[in-house]
Amino acid sequence: MVAVDASWSMLAHSAAGRPPAVVGDINRLPLVDGAVDGAAAAFVLNHVADPVAALTELCRVVRPGGFVVASVFSAADPSAAKSAIDGALARAGWEPPQWYQFIKSVGDRVGSAARMSDAACAAHLEQVDVVEGRVRTGVTDPRDIVRYRLSQPQNARFVAGLSQAARRQVIDECMAAVAATGEAFDPGVVLLAAST
Ligand SMILES: C[S@@+](CC[C@H](N)C(=O)[O-])C[C@H]1O[C@@H](n2cnc3c(N)ncnc32)[C@H](O)[C@@H]1O
Repeated sequence: MVAVDASWSMLAHSAAGRPPAVVGDINRLPLVDGAVDGAAAAFVLNHVADPVAALTELCRVVRPGGFVVASVFSAADPSAAKSAIDGALARAGWEPPQWYQFIKSVGDRVGSAARMSDAACAAHLEQVDVVEGRVRTGVTDPRDIVRYRLSQPQNARFVAGLSQAARRQVIDECMAAVAATGEAFDPGVVLLAAST
């Protein structure tokens, strides 16, 4: 087993508990044809300009009859907690960074069961099976939900740039908005399983 990511720091995180890792590009994996029995692409297809090309490259390195699995967040995310926090951030002046807009636009291309299925078929995967649904995380405490969402890269820089008073206000508004939903943080995801 080998882990591949474009980011050295991502691979360095909790490295002791991971398989051997190599920095690489999903569009040009450092593996020969048919090198592995299967490939898993977790929340990465929405980070590349051409998800079909990335799936095609995964197919190349997997032996015939092997498997490819992939996940992305649903473009139509039904998480009320997420929407509540994003609304509070927008009211405080947050604007999506350019890189985040890019991820969102690619995410739209594979962020539903139908679109992921189309992408998998375009990459000549077989026995394509796609499901879309909410992941029950069990995270219900608004403090945990807000901490998680505000620490994500698209939000963290904005929050860090606020004055202490403004930051406190944003956090309080996010907490109130999440508490008002009465919902756990259950993000929507699209999951692909297919064979080569
Ligand atoms: C949302 S994170 C998911 C990380 C990890 N797969 C997981 O599920 O926890 C997206 C990851 O995609 C990586 N990434 C973005 N573009 C990539 C590319 N062209 N090739 C390989 N990895 C890439 C980023 O470095 C980042 O670590």
